[in-house]
Amino acid sequence: MPQSATLVSRPRIAIAGASGRVGAALVANLAGEAVDLVALTRKPEPGRFPLHIAQAAVEFDAPATLGAALEGVDRFFLAQGTSPRQVENEIALIDAAIAAGVKHIVKLSAASLPAKLHPFDWHARVEAYLLSRDIGHTMLRPTTFFDTLVRAGKPVQEGSWGGAAGHGAVNLIDTRDVADAATAVLLDAESTHWQRAFHLTGPRAWTMDEVAGELTRLLGKPVSYAQRTAAEERQRLLASGVSEFVVDILVGLDRTVHESSLREETATVQLLTGHAPRQLPDWLEQNLSLFSGAKVS
Ligand SMILES: NC(=O)c1ccc[n+]([C@@H]2O[C@H](COP(=O)([O-])OP(=O)(O)OC[C@H]3O[C@@H](n4cnc5c(N)ncnc54)[C@H](OP(=O)(O)O)[C@@H]3O)[C@@H](O)[C@H]2O)c1
Repeated sequence: MPQSATLVSRPRIAIAGASGRVGAALVANLAGEAVDLVALTRKPEPGRFPLHIAQAAVEFDAPATLGAALEGVDRFFLAQGTSPRQVENEIALIDAAIAAGVKHIVKLSAASLPAKLHPFDWHARVEAYLLSRDIGHTMLRPTTFFDTLVRAGKPVQEGSWGGAAGHGAVNLIDTRDVADAATAVLLDAESTHWQRAFHLTGPRAWTMDEVAGELTRLLGKPVSYAQRTAAEERQRLLASGVSEFVVDILVGLDRTVHESSLREETATVQLLTGHAPRQLPDWLEQNLSLFSGAKVS
């Protein structure tokens, strides 16, 4: 973990998406550091975050709620769960942060993929806007999260796992590594006015057949990945009640695997955090109940 020794003062850090997968791990990392934290959430509630952390009620869809939440903030972690309003909401957050005097924005982005696929193109648009405002910033561009495999849990239990990923490979990352990288950047007082981007990846790329092989080993029963066309996968997902918005994103993610467009490995997690990125087999083992159906006590 990075040390707060590099800080020259006690900065105030606001975290958007603080209850999200990356945000919650980031809050946990920063809770013990010499910083004042404010968690932005739509549902401020006692006990939702560690006691000494301030909570600010926001609704990203309502820009008027943002200014007060960002008052006195030095550094801002900008994240929102995937939404059709992602671009306009994040731009409103950037505007509110700049108006409040924020000096550095750490934007949770996505791998830069030159394709018109959501949410990759949305992140590119938000990044372009942030660049145009000429404020200190760090773009964190993680590859696809391990957590996307959560959706495979029930199908693996039922022996019906598959998709349109073909035999391509994707490098996957643990959201805790994304949070660790964000922690390092947010605690780095020297970089306040710098403008940088980091591609964050896990240690290696995986085909879905290889993931099935790992699950076979861990579960002690055969697991396989059924190959489908994108059209077949789309139909199956729609028939199971998944919204068209989510289906587009899921089939798009399969396409990135099919085309191996997110298979690169970078050393960035190690460079920023001082530790190697977490391994997928360990994550699968830690979350095995998702795939076995065993009750967790
Ligand atoms: N999944 C992947 O593989 C992947 C890979 C690379 C990048 N990304 C990017 O990572 C981001 C998602 O991060 P995550 O997984 O940590 O998020 P997440 O777990 O989906 O959490 C979403 C967070 O956004 C907040 N939020 C959503 N809508 C809001 C609104 N209208 N107003 C206020 N708060 C709102 C929620 O806060 P409250 O509920 O507390 O209000 C929650 O904390 C997305 O931009 C995605 O494109 C994802």
